[in-house]
Amino acid sequence: MRTGIQGEPPKTRPRAVPDAAETFRIARTRMAPGLALAQKLAGASAVEASADGVTVTLSNGRRLLDFGSYGVTLLGHRHPAVVAAVQRQLATLPASTRILANQVAPALSQRLIDLTGAPALTRVWLGQNGTDAVEAALKFARLATGRSRVVALAGGFHGKTLGALSVTSGDRYRGGLEPLLTPGVYLAADLADAERAVRQPGTAAVIVEPIQGEAGIRPLDAHALRRLVTAAKASGVFVISDEIQVGLRRCGPVSLAISANLEPDAVLYGKHLGGGIMPVSAVVCSQEMFAPMLGDPFVHTATFSGHPLGCAAAAAAIEEIEARAAHGAVLGDHLRHGLDALAQRWPAVITEIRGRGLAWAIEFTDAETAGRVFADLSTSGLLVSPCLGRPEALRLLPPIVAAAEHVERAVAIFDKVIDRVVGQGAGK
Ligand SMILES: Cc1ncc(COP(=O)(O)O)c(C=O)c1O
Repeated sequence: MRTGIQGEPPKTRPRAVPDAAETFRIARTRMAPGLALAQKLAGASAVEASADGVTVTLSNGRRLLDFGSYGVTLLGHRHPAVVAAVQRQLATLPASTRILANQVAPALSQRLIDLTGAPALTRVWLGQNGTDAVEAALKFARLATGRSRVVALAGGFHGKTLGALSVTSGDRYRGGLEPLLTPGVYLAADLADAERAVRQPGTAAVIVEPIQGEAGIRPLDAHALRRLVTAAKASGVFVISDEIQVGLRRCGPVSLAISANLEPDAVLYGKHLGGGIMPVSAVVCSQEMFAPMLGDPFVHTATFSGHPLGCAAAAAAIEEIEARAAHGAVLGDHLRHGLDALAQRWPAVITEIRGRGLAWAIEFTDAETAGRVFADLSTSGLLVSPCLGRPEALRLLPPIVAAAEHVERAVAIFDKVIDRVVGQGAGK
C-alpha cells in the first residue's frame, strides 16, 4: 500500500456529507443515543446546517431564532468581525509552536486584565473551555495556599471533569463517582453555611457563581455573598468568581463580582469569550493566587492553552461585545417586560421569572410542563436552553446583537406554545 511518506498520497474520493436521516442513524448507533433522539426531536428530523446572527437554518430550510446555545452566542452566530479576525489568524499563524512566543496570547491577556479593571487582578491563564479554567483556578489556589480544602455552593455548576465536578453540585452528575478526586471539597447548603465553612482551617478557596446559571439563573443573595467573601478574606481563603456563563456582559457588567465591589481573587470567563466561534476560557487572577505559575510555568499547561485562533477570536469578540453593552441593557429590559407579561398571562404554569441583563429563566410549575414547552418551542421556531440543574426552568440567553423585534418574536412564540401546552392539560 502506498503511503504519503513514500510518495504521493493515495487518491481518496471525498466522502459525501451524510444527509439528515443518515446523520441521526450514525449519531444513534455510534454516539450517545439519548442525545441523538433529543436532537432529532428538537430539529423535527432536520439538522442544523448553517447559522447567521440570531438565526439557525436547518437542513430542510426551516429557520429558528436562537436564544439558547448554552450562552455561547452572545454575539450571535458567525459575527463578521470575529470571523474576519479568525480568518486573518488562520492565514498567518493558526497554531503555536509553544516554544516561541506569539503576539496574540499576551495581547489578549493584557486586554482581559484592562477589561476586568480590578487593580489586584494582574495575571491570566488561558484555556479552551469553562471546565479547564475552573481546574486551573482550583490548582492555583491550592498550590498558592498550601491548603487543600475548597468550599463550593449547592446549586453551583462548574463543569464535569473529575476536578471541576468535585465543586459542582447535583446527584445526576456526581452519582456513581463519589468519592471524587478532590475529597477536600465542602459543598455548602447555602451562603451562611459556606461562610462558616471558609473559616475551617486548611481551606484554600471558595468558588461561587454570583448568578447560578445551570441552577436556573439564580442570583445569590448580595448581603450573604458579601459576608461570605469577607469571611473568606479574613481567613486567607481565595475567592473565585465563576462568571463563565453570566460574566462578560451577559448580565450587564464585565464582572458581576467586581461591579459589586467584592474584590474576588479570580474571575473566570468562557463560553461567549470566543465570540461564538472558538472555544476559549480565561482565569484572570491576582499575583498571589498565580504564585505557583511564577515559580514554575509548567505547573499548569495544556497543548492548546492560548491557542492563536482562540485568542484572535476573543480579542475581536471583546471589542464587539463592549461596543454593544448599552444596547444589551436596553434589550434585557425589553425582554424582562415581555417575560413579566407572559408570567401574568399564564399564572397556572409559570411560577417565577428570574434573571438579569441577557440571561433569564422561566420557572414552570413542574419539570414535565417545562419539558413539553421546550419540545414545542424548537418546532415553533425558537431555540432556548434547558437548565442542567433545574428541569423546571427554561433559559433564554439572547444574543446582544438581537433587535427588539427578535425579543418580541421570542415572547410571542412562548405565548403560543404555552397556550397549546395549557390546552393539552398542563397547569390544571
Ligand atoms: C458557571 C459555569 N462554569 C463552568 C462551566 C463549564 O464550562 P464548559 O462546559 O465550557 O467546560 C459552565 C458550563 O455551563 C458554567 O455555566
